[in-house]
Amino acid sequence: MNRLLLPLFIIAKAVAVPSSAPCRCQSDEPCWPSTQQWTTLNHSIHGNLFKVQPVAMPCYESPSSTACREVTALWSNSSWRAAQPGAVQWENWEAWPEQNESCYLESASYMRCKQGRISRYSAIVRSEHHIQEAVRFARRHNLRLVIKNSGHDYLGRSTAPHSLQILTKGMKRIHIVDNFVPEGAPYYKGQGPAATLDAGVSLQEMYAALATRNRIVVGGSAHTVGPVGGYIQGGGHSFLGTWKGMASDNALEFSVVTATGDLVTANAYQNRDLFWALRGGGGATFGIVAKATVRTFDEVPMVLAHLNISTNGGDPAFWSAMADFHAALPALNAAGGAGYYFMLPNLPLVENQSTSAFTLMLVFANTSSTTGINRIFEPLLERLNATSSVTTQYASIVLPSIHYLISNILIPGNADITGGISLLGSRLFSRDLLVSKDGPARLVSALKQFRYDPGQPMIGHVVAGGAVADNPGMVDSALHPAWRRTIVHIAYGRNWSVNTTWAQQQAIINNFTNVELPILQAVEGAHEMGAYLNEASAYEPNFRESFWGSNYPRLYKIKQKWDPTGIFMARKTVGSEDWDDEGLCRIIK
Ligand SMILES: Cc1cc2nc3c(=O)[nH]c(=O)nc-3n(C[C@H](O)[C@H](O)[C@H](O)COP(=O)(O)OP(=O)(O)OC[C@H]3O[C@@H](n4cnc5c(N)ncnc54)[C@H](O)[C@@H]3O)c2cc1C
Ligand SMILES: *[C@@H]1O[C@H](CO)[C@@H](O)[C@H](O)[C@H]1NC(C)=O
Ligand SMILES: *[C@@H]1O[C@H](CO)[C@@H](O)[C@H](O)[C@H]1NC(C)=O
Ligand SMILES: *[C@@H]1O[C@H](CO)[C@@H](O)[C@H](O)[C@H]1NC(C)=O
Ligand SMILES: *[C@@H]1O[C@H](CO)[C@@H](O)[C@H](O)[C@H]1NC(C)=O
Ligand SMILES: *[C@@H]1O[C@H](CO)[C@@H](O)[C@H](O)[C@H]1NC(C)=O
Ligand SMILES: *[C@@H]1O[C@H](CO)[C@@H](O)[C@H](O)[C@H]1NC(C)=O
Ligand SMILES: *[C@@H]1O[C@H](CO)[C@@H](O)[C@H](O)[C@H]1NC(C)=O
Ligand SMILES: *[C@@H]1O[C@H](CO)[C@@H](O)[C@H](O)[C@H]1NC(C)=O
Ligand SMILES: *[C@@H]1O[C@H](CO)[C@@H](O)[C@H](O)[C@H]1NC(C)=O
Ligand SMILES: *[C@@H]1O[C@H](CO)[C@@H](O)[C@H](O)[C@H]1NC(C)=O
Repeated sequence: MNRLLLPLFIIAKAVAVPSSAPCRCQSDEPCWPSTQQWTTLNHSIHGNLFKVQPVAMPCYESPSSTACREVTALWSNSSWRAAQPGAVQWENWEAWPEQNESCYLESASYMRCKQGRISRYSAIVRSEHHIQEAVRFARRHNLRLVIKNSGHDYLGRSTAPHSLQILTKGMKRIHIVDNFVPEGAPYYKGQGPAATLDAGVSLQEMYAALATRNRIVVGGSAHTVGPVGGYIQGGGHSFLGTWKGMASDNALEFSVVTATGDLVTANAYQNRDLFWALRGGGGATFGIVAKATVRTFDEVPMVLAHLNISTNGGDPAFWSAMADFHAALPALNAAGGAGYYFMLPNLPLVENQSTSAFTLMLVFANTSSTTGINRIFEPLLERLNATSSVTTQYASIVLPSIHYLISNILIPGNADITGGISLLGSRLFSRDLLVSKDGPARLVSALKQFRYDPGQPMIGHVVAGGAVADNPGMVDSALHPAWRRTIVHIAYGRNWSVNTTWAQQQAIINNFTNVELPILQAVEGAHEMGAYLNEASAYEPNFRESFWGSNYPRLYKIKQKWDPTGIFMARKTVGSEDWDDEGLCRIIK
């Protein structure tokens, strides 16, 4: 071989390594890019590359500094967390307890700040081109790549140790049109009114922009969750779902940076497999969505119904009332009711006194008749009234618009409260269960088996039925088919403190996974229904079945086609079974 060609040959080999390397390059290894190479990346993305340290670092260095005071003041502010390369929304995903690495604000006075799962570098991308450059760089250097939008992911999918982060917060364009024609479609195939949203737009920004045009999009109930990030790619549930379908049912087109760094369009006319997968297949898996186009709808008035139920703490009448409520839910949902409810079986009032409480908020879109809605609640209210130990409060009001609901009731203010430690579990329950004779009682007897710490809720999301159930004939997507049969997605959480050791955390996780989750699964059977992949356990056993059901094999094939080397990787995503939990090393089979 020509001696001059040899170095080139070695470089070519080094570049070829990623596809077969069992592990991603870690920051303490010789393969880690040199300062010079990071600078080259920085230039190619116009100076938007930053070295990252955990946000609480200033408090470890100097507790009395202005920087530390600012961090302390903003600690629970989701808007601030969304914008910080050195934070996500849930502290437990910033730490890496397996390695004793954390940088909790709460432990600044007695520990050292360690990087944990916080990315090492962040590319704060401003354009598709920046995303492409960052993907190519990660590929060339065999880096663990992370995509962070809002950082809300409950399964820790927007952080990873030793990673390069792509932070989408700088991409904020919103383009609203009256008739959207998908790329590659004949001109007469207009899909009607739509909005094209950049990857970094937040729900509150989207709602505000659409309000000025008197329009609405099916979106979530949060300020900072990103409508076109993990939310819509994971399916996206909404208080408007019963009315207009899942968020992903209303997606018309995605603009995607692929694993090779190419920019492609996915819609009903081109790259249809990708279009199918991006609607319910999950974020961080098939490509990086640079922008997405979703349907918009006319503003409409709505009726808001509010129901409170309470008993003395621990009174069994509470659980009978819960069975009554769940038995009434199919009729409420069939009438268009969608929303949320909280069961708080152990709510402390004053010392030695507690109450068992339930609160429900249901909205009925595109109606202004409270009498019609009250009539549907009547049988339930009568039943509840018949039990003297149960206190009931009910009211219904007309709201002038959906935006009124959003900005005054659902998400007033400008940030969600986050910053804590949170582990979630989820189960989808079917309408069939609740209309069956003993179904409501069986569900309630499962809920009753949980231990409720003071103030701990069990949360019901009434976000399906209606258009979600009607859509399978019209929408062919990767969304778990169980969603079409769902009436409620029930979620519960567990937490711990910053001092909880990894061994203690594992005990909580173990009980969560092997005792608590099976209680919910047993109601309809572990192989029936499923879980909502965006609000489920990070330790979900059989996640492929729980999150996608019969769609999994097709999703896995699409993953292999578009991203055979797994450059896009996150916990409990399609193809993640081939990697360790951190997505750092392939599992050699
Ligand atoms: C306060 C709160 C309220 C919520 N309300 C709802 C709700 O009403 N309905 C609902 O369905 N869910 C809701 N969720 C759950 C939410 O859907 C998930 O947390 C989801 O992961 C958020 O997506 P994100 O992109 O904003 O977050 P991130 O954590 O930034 O990203 C989530 C995942 O998507 C990936 N990702 C992000 N952007 C992209 C992109 N552009 N291309 C490819 N992959 C990407 C990330 O890598 C990560 O794996 C809520 C969560 C919270 C904390
Ligand atoms: C990237 O360039 C910008 C602008 O020159 C600079 O502020 C920043 O520190 C650079 N990032 C790195 C990691 O060197
Ligand atoms: C949250 O932080 C943002 C800045 O990141 C600020 O504009 C906003 O007012 C803060 N909200 C609250 C409730 O503190
Ligand atoms: C973490 O700390 C615990 C307790 O100090 C210790 O037993 C354990 O070996 C440490 N783990 C690692 C990976 O360093
Ligand atoms: C609201 O209901 C009316 C009457 O049924 C219907 O014509 C209209 O299309 C609905 N609006 C929306 C946005 O669905
Ligand atoms: C609460 O209960 C404890 C233990 O039974 C008792 O010591 C205490 O006085 C009670 N407090 C009140 C306010 O009743
Ligand atoms: C239930 O009781 C409340 C208050 O006691 C009363 O206002 C309401 O009319 C009753 N509703 C029904 C349907 O009986
Ligand atoms: C339910 O309880 C909450 C909290 O106490 C209260 O704000 C609300 O007005 C109650 N709803 C009704 C319908 O009375
Ligand atoms: C396991 O979960 C059950 C149900 O919530 C609870 O009753 C029990 O106390 C838990 N066990 C442990 C060890 O946490
Ligand atoms: C855990 O959650 C409960 C509410 O369920 C809350 O009261 C408590 O403060 C939380 N604990 C920690 C350590 O965050
Ligand atoms: C954690 O441990 C530290 C040091 O032992 C202590 O000061 C702090 O109060 C503890 N925090 C919690 C939430 O238990």
